[in-house]
Parts: sequence; C-alpha cells; structure tokens
Amino acid sequence: MARALDLGWRGWGRVHPNPLVGATVLGGGALVGEGWHAEYGDRHAEPIALRDAGARARGGTLVVTLEPCGHRGKQPPCTDAIVQAGIRRVVAALADPNPLAAGGAERLRAAGIEVEIGLLGQPAADQNAAFLHRHRNSGRPFVAVKLATTLDGRIADAAGRSRWISGEAAQEYVHWLRAGFDAVGVGGRTARTDDPQLTVRGVVEPRVEPRRVVFDAAADLDPGLTLVRTARRVPTILVTSPSAPAARVEHLAECGVTILPATTLSDGLRSLQGIGIESLLVEGGGRLIGALLGQDLADRYYWVQSPLWLGERGVAAIVGLPSEPIDRAPRWRVVERRALGEDTLLVLDRD
Ligand SMILES: NC(=O)c1ccc[n+]([C@@H]2O[C@H](COP(=O)([O-])OP(=O)(O)OC[C@H]3O[C@@H](n4cnc5c(N)ncnc54)[C@H](OP(=O)(O)O)[C@@H]3O)[C@@H](O)[C@H]2O)c1
Repeated sequence: MARALDLGWRGWGRVHPNPLVGATVLGGGALVGEGWHAEYGDRHAEPIALRDAGARARGGTLVVTLEPCGHRGKQPPCTDAIVQAGIRRVVAALADPNPLAAGGAERLRAAGIEVEIGLLGQPAADQNAAFLHRHRNSGRPFVAVKLATTLDGRIADAAGRSRWISGEAAQEYVHWLRAGFDAVGVGGRTARTDDPQLTVRGVVEPRVEPRRVVFDAAADLDPGLTLVRTARRVPTILVTSPSAPAARVEHLAECGVTILPATTLSDGLRSLQGIGIESLLVEGGGRLIGALLGQDLADRYYWVQSPLWLGERGVAAIVGLPSEPIDRAPRWRVVERRALGEDTLLVLDRD
C-alpha cells in the first residue's frame, strides 16, 4: 500500500478534481504489477496495474489507495476489470466518498472477491484531503495555507522583504505544490509588497493552471502589478468589499481581473467555490493567514521553517489569532515532516 500511495502522487497536478490513485498487484508473494491514475478522465489505476501484471494477476491481490469504482463514468467500471483478471482479494485504503462511484466493494464481494478497506487509511486520506473535503459539502473550498518563517516567527524583514527566507529546495517544492491546487491566493499587502507571479514554474506542468486570487477589501491594486498586468493570460480574481471604491474596481475589471464582492472572508471563500475553485493554497501574508486560522477556515498548514532570524521589527508570521488557554488550545496533527535543503517542511492538518 505504501508503494501504491507513492505511485498515486504521480498524478499530482494532472488528475484533480479526480482523486490521486495508485495500485499494485501481488501474485505468488511478489509485486507483479503497478499503475496510477495519470490524467484526468483517462484510465484508472486498477486496470493499468492489472494490465501490467497480465496473467500473473490471476488468483492474486490488488492493493489500491481508493475503493475501486463500480460505475461507468468517463471510464468503464474498475470492478469489471478486477473480476475479469481473476483477482482473489482486494485491499483498499479508503472507501469512495463519491456517491456516484461508491458500491465497488459490494460488487466485488458479490462476485466472490474478498475485500478489505482501511489499510493505511490515514495517509491515504491525507493524500486526497481536497477530494475528501469536496465530498463533505462544507460550503467552501479546501483551504491550505503556506508560509516560510524564520526561527523567531517572522515572514519578512523590517522593510517588508521576504525574498528569500527559504532556500531553493523549498521554492521548488512550492511550485510542485501549487500545481495540485485550483487556485493560489495572497493578501493585498503581499500582492503590493512582493509583486508575485503566483504561477507554476516547476517540474509538474498542471493540467489547468491554478487561478490566482487576491484578498483586498479596498481593491487597492496598482494596474502595474504583475497579477493585474497578466490577468488576461492567467485568470486573476479579486475578493473585495462590496463598498470598495467603484472606480478602482471598474479599472481592475477592465484589466481582466474577475471581481468577487464579499463582506466576510467566509463569504469570499463560498463565492470562490461558486466559480469552481474547490482547493485554494493561500501563500500569505500573516494577516490573511491569521484571519483564516482564527476563523477556522484553514484545513492544512504547509510550514517551511528556515534557519535564520530577523528580529522584532520583522513582519510577524501569523497576526490576529484569538488567545487560547494552553490546556484548551487546539493542536494540529502532523501529516508530514521532511527536510527541504537547509529548511524543514511541516505539513499539519486541523483535525
Ligand atoms: N515568508 C513568507 O512565506 C511570506 C509569504 C507571503 C508574504 N510575506 C510577506 O508578508 C508581508 C505581508 O503580510 P501582511 O501580514 O502585512 O499582509 P497580507 O496578509 O498579505 O495582507 C493582508 C491583506 O489581506 C486582506 N484581507 C482580506 N480579508 C481579510 C480578513 N478577513 N482579515 C485580514 N485580512 C484580510 C487585507 O485587506 P483589507 O485589510 O483591505 O481587508 C490585506 O490587504 C510582506 O512583507 C510579504 O513580503 C511573506
């Protein structure tokens, strides 16, 4: 299953809103086939792994990160391929939350195949967090926040400069990360101070370039900013107050920026989901991230920790959180911990 999870990652940036899925086939005690869902709408992991195994699949075990589908969508039901291949046992990490695709396990059992669900269920759920979130109908996209912070919890120096707190490996990782989201967002101050591109320039070419989102109540974006200048090439959305100065809003709309008026952050997120954004990566700054965390609107935190300090006049990493007594403060769950060059990545989920 660990191998199947690794294979599943190969679809990152290419398959969403479908889930990431990897599969392995075991025959005669050996690994005889591998497959993964590589492209949205294309073949599923299971028939690819079964084809890879060929006749060696007969009597064997199929290990897959998501319950095989029992319906005809863009592809024929995987359950048919499994029955035809002569598989004796199926081990899946997660039950399929999609009501259209679910029921695969029952179909397999009806065909006399032994089915087990739950092996490495937590890592599989972590891998497909945005997909699972979508099926929970929370009324907003899956929201992940990402920050690179110093030893002393700063995200920029006293002059507002944040380039670069983290090293090259961390920056490459962020480009990989962006590729798997529907949209990448920042607060207005970050848009003005950093003038970021928020595009994907890494190893994975996303099937659909993530849209870009700026949260700025006053619609105070200079038309010369990269996000505005390139809005016709890479869609850019401004979430702003309904009372933002009309002239500014009109001018930004003329530049190709999509305007989403919203009175609260939560309304803004709901409106983003309304235009098809099911997953959003917010890359700062500290005020916007503080507001998302404080209002319970963030599901995951990608935290890059870098070995330098910037001092008290540096920009604080997270601003505006309410005070919590230590014995009742919510603790986040560690999903992943790894070195990125000199930096450390911690991925945390709100449980
Ligand atoms: N190290 C890193 O990873 C990193 C990443 C990004 C940025 N940075 C640095 O961080 C600095 C900017 O951070 P910042 O904390 O000053 O600002 P920020 O979070 O980028 O911007 C705050 C913006 O969010 C908007 N916003 C919209 N709704 C909000 C809400 N409900 N609550 C709070 N804000 C809301 C605010 O607009 P209104 O107030 O008009 O509503 C404001 O424009 C820059 O120096 C940048 O270089 C570092």
